[in-house]
Amino acid sequence: MIAEQTVSHQTSTSSVKEKQEKYIFPCVRTLYSEPLVLTEARGSRVVDKEGKTYLDMFAGILSTSLGHCHPSVNEAVHKQIDTLGHTSSLYITENQIEAAEKLARIAPGALSSSMFLNSGSEAIDAAIRLAKLYTGRDEVIALRHGYSGNSTLATHLTGHSAWRTGHTSLAGITHALAPYPYRSPFGDDPEVNADKFAQDLEDVILTTTSGRPAAFLAETIQGVGGFIVPPPGYFQKAAAIIRKYGGIFICDEVQAGFGRTGTHWFGIEHWDVEPDIMVMAKGIANGYPVGALISRPEISAAWERKTISTFGGNPICMAATSATLDIMVQEAVPDRAEARGQQLRTGLDALANQFDWIGEIRGMGLMQAIEIVKDRSTKEPDPQTTKMFLEAARKEGVLIGVGGLYGQVIRIGPSLLISEQELDEALLGLKKAASSIKK
Ligand SMILES: Cc1ncc(COP(=O)(O)O)c(C=O)c1O
Repeated sequence: MIAEQTVSHQTSTSSVKEKQEKYIFPCVRTLYSEPLVLTEARGSRVVDKEGKTYLDMFAGILSTSLGHCHPSVNEAVHKQIDTLGHTSSLYITENQIEAAEKLARIAPGALSSSMFLNSGSEAIDAAIRLAKLYTGRDEVIALRHGYSGNSTLATHLTGHSAWRTGHTSLAGITHALAPYPYRSPFGDDPEVNADKFAQDLEDVILTTTSGRPAAFLAETIQGVGGFIVPPPGYFQKAAAIIRKYGGIFICDEVQAGFGRTGTHWFGIEHWDVEPDIMVMAKGIANGYPVGALISRPEISAAWERKTISTFGGNPICMAATSATLDIMVQEAVPDRAEARGQQLRTGLDALANQFDWIGEIRGMGLMQAIEIVKDRSTKEPDPQTTKMFLEAARKEGVLIGVGGLYGQVIRIGPSLLISEQELDEALLGLKKAASSIKK
């Protein structure tokens, strides 16, 4: 029998917080010290339960790539909901094929065979399974400071202690040094860094695996790690090394994909390397739950046994994917991200000139970060100031994200359709927030 008691509509932010504590796992932590309950959104603006409007410079972790509630994506979703809402992967739908075809058109090189799932974590799991099936091998090398998601496998691939729960163990995963120039033990020269970081991958293969690895997995820009951009040349060398040992290169474009880094569709294209498998999620469907992987047909053919996904490739999510990809092409989002990215970078560089607790501004396109330190010469991470900045920006009506191993990096990744004016407004808010920090 259905309980008589109905779920009441919360009336205030504090009652939402109380109920969250009562009914939701405590590990599902939100960003701010006081809860932010979002109720409405459109484009780059979101509204909270108190009626305050914010500029969303984090886009639901780089996911509402075309802005919230984009009218054409919404139209496609509404139409699909009213036509066919669910099938399971036992049946094929035309919009899934359309989405796969559109992906193949923009994916690098010969990547053309796709699988759709529900999240980045699931797509990472599937990519690792596929790599093992294709190579007939078991060992995988990931990167320190990397983040791969919240399944058991993805947690083990992740190179951040804070995101690894322990009490589970998986053999066969080791981690090479992150190509993190700002914190490089090898000095400042980008060429030396590219060589040394890639050399570490080879050392890890030789010292922590059987020498017969299945795959090397890397984000093209490490997202949760704090938008860590590798030195030019690193990925060419790293891909050559994994291939020399008979493994394949899995590139994680969950954060950096779909024009985010400017000029190109995918981050890896900046380094002129063709991955063997590419993993995507977040921005692919403008906020709808879609994870995908794409590979060359001879690789995907190695998965001979059956697989099923109840919701993977769901018609509504595929309609959202297909519409998102159309708009991305129409709006030439890689070029827009390049132009707006330059504007954002100029504004952040100006902040760095003004505040000496900013250690580095880095990123590409509309994926820019501020690494915050106690002292520019020691580079000691400063998570407290980072938190103060996050909270101060909220007060100024600007939502941003946090990352980095110690929570010492501010991450900025707005909608790729953000306007010049909105970006100026956000930069002004960030300047006011930075000026309000008393140390
Ligand atoms: C680079 C990267 N890979 C994979 C994932 C996992 O994606 P999801 O949260 O959709 O499972 C994330 C999520 O933040 C990510 O940033």
